[in-house]
Amino acid sequence: MTRATARAHPNIALVKYWGKRDEELMLPAAGSLSLTLDAFATTTTVALEGTDDEAAADSFTLNGAAATPAQATRVTRFLDLVRERAGSTARAVVTSHNEAPTGAGLASSASGFAALAVASAAAYGLDLDRTELSRLARRGSGSATRSLVDGLALWHAGHDDASSFAEPIEGPAISMTIVTVDAAEKAVSSREAMRRTAATSPYYAGWVESTTRSLQEMSSACRAGDFTRIGEITESNALRMHAAIEACEPPVRYLRAGSIAVFDAVEQLRADGVESYATADAGPNVVVISRPEDAPAVAEHLDHLGQVRVVGAGPGARLIPAEDPA
Ligand code: DP6
Repeated sequence: MTRATARAHPNIALVKYWGKRDEELMLPAAGSLSLTLDAFATTTTVALEGTDDEAAADSFTLNGAAATPAQATRVTRFLDLVRERAGSTARAVVTSHNEAPTGAGLASSASGFAALAVASAAAYGLDLDRTELSRLARRGSGSATRSLVDGLALWHAGHDDASSFAEPIEGPAISMTIVTVDAAEKAVSSREAMRRTAATSPYYAGWVESTTRSLQEMSSACRAGDFTRIGEITESNALRMHAAIEACEPPVRYLRAGSIAVFDAVEQLRADGVESYATADAGPNVVVISRPEDAPAVAEHLDHLGQVRVVGAGPGARLIPAEDPA
């Protein structure tokens, strides 16, 4: 196949990935656990150029516009890994469409690189299984390794390229209410802030050590279907990540007043008997987890604090027929 189309969805971590122990291989300092969503898909087509002209460049179009030089470089670096494995020098025309509303902090590198991994592997004729695709996606963006998996995904930190991949883990049904409190672009990228946390935060070692323990406990809670414990670990793990980030020098702070207001409202919801727990990634927006039957009450309670959208578990990245680009 010289042309392939794949679709992938973003994921939200319940136990976060924050810090690498190997930047080249993109090995994380600790494992993590996430839910692949059923919304905000990225659909990517990779078509190989007929020519083997090494001087020619890849082209990358995102949502109908030429990508920025930084985005294009990241895609080419990733394709270089695929070409190396495939023994090919063919350049690619990459066309990508992201369904996430711009600025909501959901146009994720996870869905982007998961879709690119699946589409490019097929286009270059590599026959990779799910684990190999998860490992490949990791090289583009750490969190993309988990978007290969349906629903709940456990990313094993691993100790080398072969052992660092995500696989499914059983757990209860979980809804996520996404509260967009601020649609502005983040000031410091997660990649840069991760580096800074590892280099300057006095809490980094504690973060890595506690995340390793939380992941074990979270895995048990998922297998046991213990939603309360899943929620408690989710919220404390997120706050620990932000505490480690906020201790950087120069400082980085992603949570804004509007984010804290959501954490406060979630505490109130719990006091009122609606079990819900908050988490936030490298940005101001907050994701609230609940049992699916409680999601309407959660969304109603948080509606005045931002734009609210309820999502659930979705499929891992896979090839789709080219004539179905929706
Ligand atoms: C806060 O996967 O975007 O969302 O590996 O450098 O591309 P790179 O970083 P990325 O970081 C995600 C960070 C996070 C936590 C998480 O998704 O686990």
